[in-house]
Amino acid sequence: MKIAVLGTGTVGSTIGSRLIELGHTVMMCSRTANNEKAKAFVAKHSSNALAGTFADAAAYGEIIFNCTAGVASLEALNLAGEKNLNGKIIVDIANPLDFSKGMPPSLSVVNTNSLGEEIQKAFPEAKVVKTLNTMWCGLMVNPGLINNGDHNVFISSDHPEAKEEVKKILESFGWKPENITDLGNLSSARGTEMFLPLWLQIYGAKKSGTFNIKIVG
Ligand SMILES: NC(=O)c1ccc[n+]([C@@H]2O[C@H](COP(=O)([O-])OP(=O)(O)OC[C@H]3O[C@@H](n4cnc5c(N)ncnc54)[C@H](OP(=O)(O)O)[C@@H]3O)[C@@H](O)[C@H]2O)c1
Repeated sequence: MKIAVLGTGTVGSTIGSRLIELGHTVMMCSRTANNEKAKAFVAKHSSNALAGTFADAAAYGEIIFNCTAGVASLEALNLAGEKNLNGKIIVDIANPLDFSKGMPPSLSVVNTNSLGEEIQKAFPEAKVVKTLNTMWCGLMVNPGLINNGDHNVFISSDHPEAKEEVKKILESFGWKPENITDLGNLSSARGTEMFLPLWLQIYGAKKSGTFNIKIVG
């Protein structure tokens, strides 16, 4: 599949690399066409990777991964262009963490709203699926790193058929079907995004991001 990865940070690079490993081709993108990190990604993966602007990649991709800074995701997706996103699945991994006032960050959208819902409202013809945002990116693409892969990933969307498509990708990453917890419609992304302040506190206490939620009981 041709996949657009929006975001040249650690998450975009980790997700993009894993997708290429699984046989997909990936366009890594940013605000500019000659981003150094996107160029390095292409150099690393050669023929299965391309680089471009957010708009180039959104036009190229059959499915879009949003791995941009959450406070800037709407700006990035606007640059990607509504016509390039219409009808496509947007896998939204971003968290609306606002670090502008230092640590700990606040959530720029919260309680009665979520970034996932804001993206869906801004691009009503796209199909937003919120997932993977509750863990460190190394675990997103390799759940077997801890507890024999026996821990949970959440999925939220108003589009059941899009959710099924994304579940297949999660399974290809190594997620066991029974550990992909379907939380229902996109408003459930409020809960997964609001987990982030606790995630950051656990990270601070453990001094490691290699942990996740496992539902028991
Ligand atoms: N790190 C993790 O393990 C982890 C885990 C779960 C969720 N997340 C979420 O994943 C997302 C990506 O995290 P990250 O650390 O890899 O990257 P990041 O540093 O949060 O974001 C990098 C991307 O955001 C874009 N961006 C920044 N400001 C922008 C603006 N004003 N307009 C348009 N685009 C802008 C950058 O574009 P340029 O390339 O043009 O600079 C870059 O591609 C975040 O939302 C984060 O909360 C991270």
